[in-house]
Amino acid sequence: MENSVYTIKNLDLVFGEDKFQLENIDNVSIHSGEILGVLGESGCGKSTFGKCLIGLINYRDRGRFNITQFGVNGDSAKIAFPMYPDIFSGSNVLEGTKKELLQYRRHVQMIFQNPRSALNLNMPVHKILKEAIRIGSPKINKIDLRKKVKTIAEKFELGGNNWNRIKNSKPKDLSGGERRRIGIAKVFATDSDVIIADEPVASLDVSVRGKILETLLTEWEKRQKEWKEGKRAHPLTIIIISHDFDLIQKMCHRTMVFYGDIHVKRGTVVEVFENNNIPDKLHPYTTALRHDAHFMNNPEVILQNNQDKVARKKIIKTGCVYVNRCPLVQDDCLEKQPSLKSSREDINYLKACFVNI
Ligand SMILES: Nc1ncnc2c1ncn2[C@@H]1O[C@H](COP(=O)(O)OP(=O)(O)O)[C@@H](O)[C@H]1O
Ligand SMILES: [Mg+2]
Repeated sequence: MENSVYTIKNLDLVFGEDKFQLENIDNVSIHSGEILGVLGESGCGKSTFGKCLIGLINYRDRGRFNITQFGVNGDSAKIAFPMYPDIFSGSNVLEGTKKELLQYRRHVQMIFQNPRSALNLNMPVHKILKEAIRIGSPKINKIDLRKKVKTIAEKFELGGNNWNRIKNSKPKDLSGGERRRIGIAKVFATDSDVIIADEPVASLDVSVRGKILETLLTEWEKRQKEWKEGKRAHPLTIIIISHDFDLIQKMCHRTMVFYGDIHVKRGTVVEVFENNNIPDKLHPYTTALRHDAHFMNNPEVILQNNQDKVARKKIIKTGCVYVNRCPLVQDDCLEKQPSLKSSREDINYLKACFVNI
């Protein structure tokens, strides 16, 4: 069994008065050293999940996020982080104190979907990178620090002729694409063990996208090698959040598929599979995503296929989150959300579906 970076139990939260519910994500582990893809359409809860992992959404701050329910049937939501057992006394990221979370973020960093919220917009770029490098290497000397800043800038397409302009600029004066790359470079500069990358290349030009993704993979491989050679205590674990099926297929070892329904304001994980061992019969939602590029972000697909099975005039709010779009609906699908269960003994595979396919 792989070592886990995270084991997640009873992760279920409701924003406000039924504004959106991220539903029972239970018994899910994220493995040490893997690149995990979190895939799903816009609004299904991917960023919320990422913010829970980084501890930004937590029990202490639930008021700030207007969270009215956290956990399932009286059991607390729990994200265990066994990699550094000394950090969280209660071994739950979501119950971390301010001090614990500060310590935690030396090891876990997030590339935010909106880089504006993660960067000091008034700090010169070279200072941002220097600060980040000092998190992982507090004793680094000035010459090495300057060299490292330049290397990192080059890796993330901020170097070359542009560097002289960019290094003294402040993020507020740069383009959206440049800010995005600075956000990514800053996270890699900290040398953390876990990186949560929320739509890391979504707003970048196609030419830059490819290079940034390649750099992510190269960095991951380098860290993997150093870990195998005993030079590091942990390999690098990357969690890539994206709505892009191809990107996740190319970059990741495993995929966690999220589904959310904008009409019923619920989202959850419906399937987890290994990318090199994909079962023939996937969850009906993943199947639709895989075979129909237009399915993503196209709410009109709702209610198309199964008019005769249920009264399709109204949106069904109970049962499986996917019930309004599923072509295979059967009676129990209308009653409750199926839990995420292992449905194959021979492979590492989880599916939340009542239909026996
Ligand atoms: N603090 C909050 N209060 C109320 N609703 C929220 C809050 N944060 C997120 N949501 C809602 O939760 C849903 C999922 O959001 P998000 O996790 O950002 O989705 P994704 O990243 O998959 O696009 C959205 O409908 C969003 O409006
Ligand atoms: Mg998002």
